[in-house]
Amino acid sequence: MKVLQKIADVKQIINHLKQNQTKIAFVPTMGALHQGHLELLKIARNYSDFVVLSIYVNPTQFGKNEDFDKYPRNLDQDISKIQHQNISIDLIFAPTNQDIYPFPESQTPILTFPFLSQKLCGISRPTHFDGVGLVVLKLLNIVQPDYLIMGQKDFQQTVIIQRLIDEFFLDTKLITVPTVREKDGLALSSRNIYLNNDERNQALILFRSLSEIKNHLRVGISDNEIQKILNLHKDLINQTPNLKVDYLEVLNAKDLQPVKQIEKGMKIVIAIAVFVGKTRLIDNFVLEF
Ligand code: PAJ
Repeated sequence: MKVLQKIADVKQIINHLKQNQTKIAFVPTMGALHQGHLELLKIARNYSDFVVLSIYVNPTQFGKNEDFDKYPRNLDQDISKIQHQNISIDLIFAPTNQDIYPFPESQTPILTFPFLSQKLCGISRPTHFDGVGLVVLKLLNIVQPDYLIMGQKDFQQTVIIQRLIDEFFLDTKLITVPTVREKDGLALSSRNIYLNNDERNQALILFRSLSEIKNHLRVGISDNEIQKILNLHKDLINQTPNLKVDYLEVLNAKDLQPVKQIEKGMKIVIAIAVFVGKTRLIDNFVLEF
């Protein structure tokens, strides 16, 4: 397993692999690896002979008051987690900001996804997905993977990256991996480390709400009825001290459009974000009817 920082070094290896028609799978991350990330790496191996992991905390996807500075960074610890579980990776790409953004910040291009990026997480993080789209486009151009492996945990991110692939005719297939959870249902997240013990218990509200709402959804149910169920759950959460709903919505899973009525064959997403104290957690269920 090689660890490289320089884009030119990565490109040299990739060019060689392309000449030999070796299939490449790519898992982009911001490090602070947990079992969710490791699961993506295991799946990546099933798809390809060469697995690339990137570890890069991308500044352009953090808002001004967000946790860019305190986001956990520990490359050595990440490498030991991979080795400890015997996960087979061929290359870790760990660039610096200077490598990824070589030009002045004021001249950085803006790539935006009107509509898709302004819903759900985009309401409280209006520039987040522009930054995600931009960095993933840069990373895809460097790694040129046949398969891009991402987690369903960040569902809106997968919708936007699929759109990026389609809009720019990229030769990569997006594979979305189901969310890895703790035994009690809490979705694994690098941000769970911010929670104290009480908050860790409170955080279960996301999984519980999704599970209950799921039980109420069926073919034929109208938007009106869905909104009633969602409002009930929002009120319940907001009445709990230390919890505040950021959003709770049922949307069409393909394009994040509102659902007028659930119809047979429809794929929908129930998406939730809750502030547990100062930490904002997200989760979702995707259902097919
Ligand atoms: P990061 O939050 O580090 O997540 C990296 C990948 O791990 C994403 O595809 C995310 O959906 C997946 N992931 C996180 N938690 C998961 C879980 N519990 N189960 C399954 N997969 C999980 O997402 C990003 O980084 C960044 O936005 C990035 C795409 C790297 C661009 O900077």
